[in-house]
Order: sequence, then C-alpha cells, then structure tokens
Amino acid sequence: MTARRRSYEPDRDFLRVRDFLNETYSAFDAPINWGLERWNYARYFVAPFLGAYGKEGDALEDSLGAIQLWEDMVRIWEDNAGRIVGVVCIETPDPTDQQYGEIFVQRHPDHVDLLDEMVAFGEEHYVHPERNRVYMWAYEDDADLNAVLEARGFARRDEPVLHHLEYAIGELPPLELPDGFRLLTMAEENDIEKRREIFGRGFNHPDPIEWPSAFSYRELQRAPDYHLENDFVIVAPDETYASCCIVWYDAVSRIAHLEPLGTHPDYRRKGLATQIQFAALRRAKELGATHMPMTGGFEPFYRAFGFEERRKEHPWVKEF
Ligand SMILES: CC(C)(COP(=O)(O)OP(=O)(O)OC[C@H]1O[C@@H](n2cnc3c(N)ncnc32)[C@H](O)[C@@H]1OP(=O)(O)O)[C@@H](O)C(=O)NCCC(=O)NCCS
Repeated sequence: MTARRRSYEPDRDFLRVRDFLNETYSAFDAPINWGLERWNYARYFVAPFLGAYGKEGDALEDSLGAIQLWEDMVRIWEDNAGRIVGVVCIETPDPTDQQYGEIFVQRHPDHVDLLDEMVAFGEEHYVHPERNRVYMWAYEDDADLNAVLEARGFARRDEPVLHHLEYAIGELPPLELPDGFRLLTMAEENDIEKRREIFGRGFNHPDPIEWPSAFSYRELQRAPDYHLENDFVIVAPDETYASCCIVWYDAVSRIAHLEPLGTHPDYRRKGLATQIQFAALRRAKELGATHMPMTGGFEPFYRAFGFEERRKEHPWVKEF
C-alpha cells in the first residue's frame, strides 16, 4: 500500500486527525494511538502553556510561537483516497525541555508498512539538540513497533516502566465530600484565575510564575473536545479551588479519558481526587462511556481507585 506524506494544515486537519484517532483508538487488539484528549491537549494546552512557562503575564507571542512550532512539526500520511493513515508529532514544542526528543507515531492498523518511514521522520526532525537523541515509548505487546525500533538501532530501557491501567465504568457512588467543600463545573463558575492556581498548585508548583497563563487556560477552553461542564473543581471552605479534573469523551470508542487531575497539597489524602474522579466518571457514563484507560498517571492513586493493570510500556532510545 502506498501513502503520501505532507505537512499539517491546522484549519483543515485538526478535526480530521481527531477523527482518525477516535476511529483507530479501539482498532488494535489493545490501544496504541493517542486518545482524543492528548491531541486536543497538546495543541490547545501544552504548547501555549510551555510557550509562556516561567514568564510574566500571558507572554502571548511566546505561546503563539510554541503553537506554531508544534503545528510545523506534525506530519500526516494519506492514502490514495485522501484518508489519513498515519500521523507523526511531538508533544513538547520546547527544544530546551527535558522531554523534547520524544517521537509520537499514530497509525492505522492496515498500514504497518509505514511505521519505519514514520519513525525515520521523527529521527530526522525531533532530535534533542543537547542530548542528541530521540526516544519513543512502546507497549510490550506492540510487536510491529518493537521490531521497527530494534531494526533502526533504538535500545530498549528496562526502566522506567509505565502501565496501561483501565477502569470499567459500572455502578458509581453518589458524591460525598468533607464538610464545607462543594463540587462545581466551569460551566457554573468559570473563574480562570482560581483555575490557573489549582492547576499550578495541584501539580506542585507554589510559584505563580509556573502556573498556566490565563491565555493558555482560555486556549484550552477553545479545544474542540473541551466542554465547560466536563471541567470539574472542588471548592474549599475558603472559596479557593482544592482539586480539579477534566474528562474527555470519545463517542466512537465510548472511552472516557482524564487529563489532568490534581489536588492542592494542603488538601491531599482527604478523598477529594477520588470524589472528583467519581464525578468525572458519572458524567462520562451519562455520555455513554464504558471504560477509562490511563497510562502515565500517578499509579498508586489509580490502583487504589480500582483501575486494573493491562500491560506495560518501555522507553526506547536512539543516541546519535
Ligand atoms: C494523585 C493526587 C491527585 C491524589 O489526590 P488526593 O486528593 O490526595 O487523593 P485521595 O485523597 O482521593 O487518595 C485516594 C487514595 O489514593 C492513594 N494515594 C493518594 N495519594 C497517594 C500517595 N501520595 N502515595 C500513595 N498512595 C496515594 C491512597 O490509597 C489514597 O487513599 P488513603 O488516603 O485512604 O490512603 C494528588 O496527590 C496530586 O494532585 N498529585 C500531583 C498531581 C498528579 O500526580 N496527578 C495525577 C496524575 S494525572
């Protein structure tokens, strides 16, 4: 089978790639491609957030520059009928970031033949400028990718290991919060300042300069698959936000994804993340979701919640 590589055209392609990810998410024996949340999040949050990271105010030009860089680095493969059959991209459009150099390959199950070419594109264009290397994560049961990485001279690292965990959505308990706390969605109170703060504090950043800019949070709210009523916060008795999470729904695969989830350090181990996650799952179930997968989250929390382990993935590194 043949396919043609071309540049990414944001206006034309964002939703087409999203649809491709939804269609292929469950097309493999076990998921291999990104879910729609990661695609939305990469463009509408990670890029603008990193562009302004550590800077005063919105640092608008830097945020827009990071979005542009991210878009410029995406490549699409289309078959003869013009259908997307592969996408290669990065997640972190900042060459000084530790995580830069990671290659993400999204593929169609009928186009294993493109894997080698897609990985080669990443090797050529995504090398970390100082570390002089690229890397990819591969699930241990993804024989095709493991074979391509080995043949191309990548070395598998035994550590660290990530686990694909999954939660089957069955009966869900009603809301139960400590006295004085209440659950809201951003549809009820869209307070961007408080939302930036809980995002920063929830991910252990006490310094406001490291919180998302107001622009990056508004940009996230413009993502096509973001909905205010799927963005949950728990309000503390002093009216600050104590915990937050966003749920994303893929109606094609009937899968819910969570990205991100965090609790302010002053309010941890009170069951708030458990409660907000149940709220997100109740919403997802109303929408039609049957499962929630999770890879790369804080595993002790998800395992305690009831997520079950499915499989492992390892990093593969190629040094130049
Ligand atoms: C992970 C996190 C969201 C948990 O928030 P929380 O509100 O404290 O969670 P809960 O109180 O509902 O914890 C429920 C259970 O999860 C497990 N758990 C939570 N934090 C844990 C920790 N630091 N170490 C080990 N187990 C933990 C425990 O079993 C806990 O029950 P217990 O307190 O009765 O022992 C919070 O620590 C956090 O925001 N961390 C930084 C951001 C992050 O890693 N987010 C998740 C990745 S997407």
